[in-house]
Amino acid sequence: MEPSKDFISTFMVAVSNCLLYSKEHEAFDELAKKTLGALEENLKEQFEIMIIDDELIVNKKSLRGGGLHRINIIKRLKRKGVSRVDFLKGITLPEIKRFIVDISEPGKGLKSYPHIRAGAVDIRMGGLKMDAVDINQLVFSPQEEIEKVKDVFHSATPFRKLDIAGLEEVVAHFIGSFRKEANLLKLLSPIKSYSEYTYTHATNVSILSVLQAESLGIKDDMLHEFGIAALLHDAGKLFVSKEILDKKGKLDDWEFDEIKKHPLYGARYLAKMDHLTRLAPIIAFEHHIKYDGTGYPGAGSNGKKQHICSQIVAISDFFDALRSRRPYRESWETKKIIALMEKNSGTDFNPLLLNNFTGLLETALN
Ligand SMILES: [Fe+2]
Ligand SMILES: [Fe+2]
Repeated sequence: MEPSKDFISTFMVAVSNCLLYSKEHEAFDELAKKTLGALEENLKEQFEIMIIDDELIVNKKSLRGGGLHRINIIKRLKRKGVSRVDFLKGITLPEIKRFIVDISEPGKGLKSYPHIRAGAVDIRMGGLKMDAVDINQLVFSPQEEIEKVKDVFHSATPFRKLDIAGLEEVVAHFIGSFRKEANLLKLLSPIKSYSEYTYTHATNVSILSVLQAESLGIKDDMLHEFGIAALLHDAGKLFVSKEILDKKGKLDDWEFDEIKKHPLYGARYLAKMDHLTRLAPIIAFEHHIKYDGTGYPGAGSNGKKQHICSQIVAISDFFDALRSRRPYRESWETKKIIALMEKNSGTDFNPLLLNNFTGLLETALN
C-alpha cells in the first residue's frame, strides 16, 4: 500500500478503536505506535493533509482510493471544523496519542500540539470563500459508480488483485444515496451497451442486495461488507472467455457448462484475496444455487442450505438479469419479473426474503 494511504487507514483504525479502550490500554498504545510508524514513513520534512471540496489532498496530491477510511477522515476532520493538518518532523508518541483521542471524541475541539498544526484551508476565489462540501450532500451518480466498478474490474486480471478499497468507496456512496431517493428503481442503471453489462449488473445487484439487507436491519460495517461481496458475485466471469459471455445467439451445451463454472472460479479467486471477508467467496459460490438446493455448481450435493446473504443476492441477481436487455432477449417489465419470481417462491427463492423484496419494489412502483 502507498505510505500515505497506509497512514490514513492506520490513523482511522486507531481513531475508531480508541473509544473502545481506555487510553492506558495496551491495544490503544499499539495502534498509536503503528500510526506514528506509518506517519514517519511519510515524514521527510512535513506531511500535509488538506480537504478541498470532497477531495483529500495529501502533500499536494489528490488521494484516490482509500475507501471508507478516506471518507471517514474527511468527515471527522470536517466535524472539527478542520480542513488542513500539518504533521511536522519530530512528532512524538504522546502527541499523536492526544491527537487521535481529540479527533475521536465528538464535541471536543483540537488543542495545540508542538508538531501538529490543524486549521482551515482558506481558498478565496474572486473574494468568495469556498466552503467545504459536506460529504453527506454529495450527489450520487450511478454512471460514475459504474465507471469506477469498470476501472476496478479492468485493472484486474487473474494475476492482479482487485482494488477492494475502490469498491468500498463505491458501496459507501450508494448506501449514502438511499436515503435521498425514494424510488429505488431510479437508482438502477439501464445498460447502455452490451459490453457494459458486467459492470452495470454488478452495481445493480449490489444496490438491490444492500437495500434488502438494510430493510432487514443489517447495518454499518456488515452492510458495507455485504455490498462489496454482492458487487463481486460474478467475479468468476473474469475467467470465462469473452466470446461466450458476449455471444449473441443461444449457448450450446459446452458453452453453458463453461458459464456454469463461474461460481467456482469466483470463489477460488476471492478466497485468496486479502482485505476481503469470507462472505465474498461464499456468495460467489452460492448465488446460482436455488433455495431448494438445485441450480449450480454441484448444487445440493453437500446438503447445506444457501447462506442467507447468497439468498438475498440470488433474488437481486435474477431480477436485474431479466430487467436488462441482453443480446439474446429484450428486457422484461418489472411486474412480469415479479410474477415469475413469485411463481418460483419456495423453490428458487426464499419466500420470506422474496416477500420483503417485492414489498420494497411495490413502494417504488406505486
Ligand atoms: Fe452469476
Ligand atoms: Fe450475476
